[in-house]
Amino acid sequence: MSQPIDAVRAAFPSLAITDGGRPRVYFDNPAGTQVPQQVIDRYTSYFTRSNANSGGAFVTSRETVALAEATRAKLAAFVNAADPDEIVIGQSMTALTFHMTRALEKLFRPGDEIIVTRMDHDGNVTPWLKLAERLNLEIRWLPFDPATSRYDLTALDRLVTPRTKLAAINYASNITGTINDVGAIVRRVKAVGGLTYIDAVQFAPHGIIDVQALGCDFLVCSAYKFYGPHVGILWGRRELFERFTPPKLRVSPETLPSRYMLGTAPYEAIAGTLGALEYYEWLGETIATPDQRAASSNTMNAGKLWMQAQEEALAKRLIDGLQKLKGVKIHGLTGANEMAERVSTVSLTIEGHDPEVLATALGDRNIFAWSGNNYALDLIGWLGLAESGGVLRLGPVHYNTVAEVDATVAALAEIIA
Ligand SMILES: Cc1ncc(COP(=O)(O)O)c(C=O)c1O
Repeated sequence: MSQPIDAVRAAFPSLAITDGGRPRVYFDNPAGTQVPQQVIDRYTSYFTRSNANSGGAFVTSRETVALAEATRAKLAAFVNAADPDEIVIGQSMTALTFHMTRALEKLFRPGDEIIVTRMDHDGNVTPWLKLAERLNLEIRWLPFDPATSRYDLTALDRLVTPRTKLAAINYASNITGTINDVGAIVRRVKAVGGLTYIDAVQFAPHGIIDVQALGCDFLVCSAYKFYGPHVGILWGRRELFERFTPPKLRVSPETLPSRYMLGTAPYEAIAGTLGALEYYEWLGETIATPDQRAASSNTMNAGKLWMQAQEEALAKRLIDGLQKLKGVKIHGLTGANEMAERVSTVSLTIEGHDPEVLATALGDRNIFAWSGNNYALDLIGWLGLAESGGVLRLGPVHYNTVAEVDATVAALAEIIA
């Protein structure tokens, strides 16, 4: 009998590709997921029917604008933004974040403070370090406890001062997988009038985002991590976007979101992003359980609940399997009752084995995995793994199977034997 997972996998043409008869195991998802047919269809349709620049008095240009508006409206629902004009689309999370550091310059006076963390991807660290260098600001580092893989919130109380103007915080780590209590951090920073900039790149593929409930000021994610094309997405509060002045051309409009979007937008990728959100809706409508639908404010979120249940089970099975291998250390939450507090990104080291050699040996078996620091430079340094090649990272998502998890654990057992 056909199972929901079969229908899910059938929605992703690339999952059926084989190489010399060998299936592919995509565990490289934290670096970018595969795309469903809805995304491919949106690209085909855009290039066939609607391809134009915006602002023209003809059908293709109007369709381009309408598609971009439809995408922003659905993205607004995806993060529960109050207003689609608060959604800016750009090249990547990194490009958007550098852009915002330019836009926010007027917020700071020399000696003001920015909090960055030891857990973040460099995309949410270096842009703020560079800003601090330019404006003579103080950087304050929020540590995390390697034993628990969680931010040290008592340290946060010491770090936050009346001069804290902004905190750049990770929603879920791309190494440990920890889902952080962003709401609690936002409240502490807000209490002194600071702004919060949340990196949700790793959280967005796995969890439901509600920017209004979090109370944050900016939140960034990347569509290519949640089954869409290579674009970054920035949500920000309207009054803040209006208050600050991004670098822009004289000819580009002052209105939102154009004011924050440099040059011509990647319209085909924006249409493709709409396809990714339509996939979530399809999942919510046809695969999610009635309970998941009843518990969700929209069908996209019902789809996410279904994904979460799959991913928690896959992460648990993967962690349990890995823990049986000799010399394995998992850098992240491992408890059976902690699966809801982490995403399914699992990073590990195996005593006496170089992570890159392991990833290469897996690659030889058509199992796709990343190794190294995965751009979480400070985190890998904080764990003391910078000199030993970082970690091996396995990132199952909802379209992966129990059989793939078991085959990967078996392959690793064979490789280290
Ligand atoms: C947690 C996190 N933040 C930021 C980024 C950077 O995103 P982008 O490639 O869109 O710049 C990544 C990419 O892997 C990431 O995992």
